[in-house]
Amino acid sequence: MLARIRPGMMSSAAQRLRMSGTRQFSAAAIQRSDAIFVHRDTPENNPSIPFEFSSANLSEAQTIMAKYPPQYKKAAMIPLLHLAQKQNGWTSLSVMNYIAKLLEVHPMRVYEVATFYTMFNRNPVGKYFLQVCTTTPCELCGASKIVKAIEDHLGIKVGGTTPDKLFTLVEVECAGACVNAPVVSVNDDYFEDLTPETTVKLLNDLKAGKEVKRGPLNGRINCEPLGGQTSLTTPPPGPGFMVREDL
Ligand code: FES
Repeated sequence: MLARIRPGMMSSAAQRLRMSGTRQFSAAAIQRSDAIFVHRDTPENNPSIPFEFSSANLSEAQTIMAKYPPQYKKAAMIPLLHLAQKQNGWTSLSVMNYIAKLLEVHPMRVYEVATFYTMFNRNPVGKYFLQVCTTTPCELCGASKIVKAIEDHLGIKVGGTTPDKLFTLVEVECAGACVNAPVVSVNDDYFEDLTPETTVKLLNDLKAGKEVKRGPLNGRINCEPLGGQTSLTTPPPGPGFMVREDL
């Protein structure tokens, strides 16, 4: 039976709140990541593995750092990490330590940045890093079928790498190419307007070392309307259009 509260009488919860002086609140269940955000030395990721920029990348890094006043060169941290990841294939502990040395900051400052931004892979990835967008617009256009096609074809699950170290598959949030959904990025290139069939063909071509065409794979040009042009279908009117004749 529910206890009734008479006017002027406080509920027991309200009394507890008054006595404790704190507010109660409720929260949803915490979404936990399956990634481990602490470093454990492994044979392929430990501080004794040497890393330094190639001479071309070192001069590129110096150009990047020169954009900032010397006392603020740590502002170059993200582009330098990006450059280092490109050279190394992933952002290892040695990569982060090297960038810290280059920028004259404590290594922790670099770890903080590299662990915050998910584009820095702190574990080795395959030669082809497949990032499938599964956010709403892509999902509505069949992103799940693309993920399944990749998983089935490569025999791996999201987060996995093929045994030959050629492909790593991950899911990402909006890749910023929604108009060409569904989309997968392979390293720095986008492949758009995918179907399971074109996706499998793309994987086969990559594996065979063939040259692949970037952008939409359904024949459309960039992000033109799928059903043909719907605006600007006539030549634009010339100067003076709709202007009073006496002007
Ligand atoms: S939702 Fe997939 S690119 Fe935007």
